[in-house]
Amino acid sequence: MILARTTLIFSLLISLLNAAEVRLYSERHYTADKTILAEFTEKTGIEVKVVKAGANELLARMKAEKDAPQADLYLSVDAASLERASIAGLLQKIESPDLSSRLPKGFGPKDDAWLPITMRARVIVYAKDRVKPADAPKTYAGLANPQWRGRLLIRSSTSHYNQSLLASIIASEGKGKALTWAQGVKNNLARPPQGGDRDQVRAVALGQGDLAVSNSYYLGILENSDDEKDRKARESVGVIFPNQDGRGTHVNISGAGIIKGTKNKKEALALLDFLTSPKVQAKYQKLTSEFGVIKDLEREPLQKAWGEFKPDYQSLHELADHQTEAVKLFDLVGWP
Ligand SMILES: [Fe+2]
Repeated sequence: MILARTTLIFSLLISLLNAAEVRLYSERHYTADKTILAEFTEKTGIEVKVVKAGANELLARMKAEKDAPQADLYLSVDAASLERASIAGLLQKIESPDLSSRLPKGFGPKDDAWLPITMRARVIVYAKDRVKPADAPKTYAGLANPQWRGRLLIRSSTSHYNQSLLASIIASEGKGKALTWAQGVKNNLARPPQGGDRDQVRAVALGQGDLAVSNSYYLGILENSDDEKDRKARESVGVIFPNQDGRGTHVNISGAGIIKGTKNKKEALALLDFLTSPKVQAKYQKLTSEFGVIKDLEREPLQKAWGEFKPDYQSLHELADHQTEAVKLFDLVGWP
């Protein structure tokens, strides 16, 4: 009896010690992730432990833990942050032809340092009752036009979303033009930057400005909101995917890299496989309004209503090279 119980406790302890897990450092702040990760655990038996923080904090942590990694996967909301992690030698190659073959050509890094999971586009919105669709800017450059003086809403330059947007302008148009653009946009601000992307759209609805810049999925989140005011705010704006006649709309990704030295590579790969499966990709689109990244994925009706657009995949790979410069330019023009 005692022996049987001891054996049982012993085997329980062994199974606990061997419990498959994947430890995640995540910048994502969406409730949908909790649902999706719980489904992964249910399906595979692999536990997911999540630590949430911003990019700078997580990168500092990974550097400090380089010799004894405390996480297996780094999940970021910015390609530049993933590149920074890769350049710092914190990530290992994702050696899975199966995973990379799911992506459209030209998407994802050439060196397999990380894997995109969702995509977001940085769009322009305009007040439908005050701006004619024909007059609304069709390019990011148009945001800097003096005709919008005192009418533009955009969040702080401390946001990685804006830093990557400016980095993409440096990558494709050069530093000089990027500086002029940042100055022009700053001159057009309707108020000192405050709040997140959704707050810019809400402010347009309140008449505090006529144009705003937002990530595409926030429009979906407003549209699906329980709050009627948010649904009305979304309804009051028209959406433009900029630069369609040029290099395409600035897109960024949420993606993941496998941390160098992890003991749980197999589990990390299993999670990446799950997150880029057609079913989960469709679920992201439904729950967060982000775009899935795999080929031949049908868009959500709400996304279809935005229309087809051409993404700028090219500068996506050059964001990290220009991010420091972007921050300098923002400081130079005094964009808070
Ligand atoms: Fe976000």
